[in-house]
Amino acid sequence: MIIFYFTSTGNSLAVAKRIGGEMISIPQVIDSTKKVYKDDVIGVVFPIYSLAAPKIVCQFLSKVKFEADYTFAIGTYGNMPGAAMHYVQKLAEKQGYRFDYVNHLFMLDNFLPVFEIGAEIEKLPKKKVEEMTAKIVTDINGRKHLKAPVTLGAKALTSIIDPLTSNTAKSAQKYIVNDQCTKCGVCVKVCPTKNISVTSKVQFSDRCTGCEACLHHCPQNAIHLKNEKSNKRWRNPDVSLNEIITANNRN
Ligand SMILES: Cc1cc2nc3c(=O)[nH]c(=O)nc-3n(C[C@H](O)[C@H](O)[C@H](O)COP(=O)(O)O)c2cc1C
Repeated sequence: MIIFYFTSTGNSLAVAKRIGGEMISIPQVIDSTKKVYKDDVIGVVFPIYSLAAPKIVCQFLSKVKFEADYTFAIGTYGNMPGAAMHYVQKLAEKQGYRFDYVNHLFMLDNFLPVFEIGAEIEKLPKKKVEEMTAKIVTDINGRKHLKAPVTLGAKALTSIIDPLTSNTAKSAQKYIVNDQCTKCGVCVKVCPTKNISVTSKVQFSDRCTGCEACLHHCPQNAIHLKNEKSNKRWRNPDVSLNEIITANNRN
């Protein structure tokens, strides 16, 4: 089994690890020319951004084809999944295959302009993350088939967003690096789009995908958004900083 994953704060990687198999980070293969992946089971796990799959995930799914006896796609989300998973199935169809099992999983919301991490942590017991993760693992082990859970309203909302063309570069200008920064370079290593460089200061280029990994994993908590709800940050407790670096470092 191969699982392709994308993660910023570890939620999606924690789920991918629970499912098991060979783990391949999408940022590590996004520049590859390989078009067809073959295995007995192939899955993809990623966070939902703006009611859709992140741009890097859409780019990946738009250029590869999975040839497997069983395929699945799981989107982790924190508040509202929209029709993200329905459109991910459409991307697969365009490539000539279909995901057999498509589901989403309610987890902590790491989007700092809207959600306060302390309050999000308190919501976790109600989200029943462990129970729902275990159910998805059982479903996949049992090779269950499931259509993307979606309502008409969600389709209407999500259809406004096109992650392949939406411009997230402006968000880079919102980052404030304070004088706690030691120029350790962790932000460079956790960025999945090679958007950050550190010289005499931290510099952001125009490839930001808005994942907020640089904010969440800064060891000094030195990177901030003007409009963040609080300065509290999140890394899924089942995932280490080294695993995030291994997943996202493209330098
Ligand atoms: C830029 C951005 C946009 C997001 N948009 C949504 C959204 O539309 N709906 C939602 O429920 N959660 C949204 N989230 C929350 C994430 O999907 C959620 O926290 C996810 O589990 C994070 O996964 P990760 O830890 O693997 O990165 C968003 C997060 C970010 C950073």
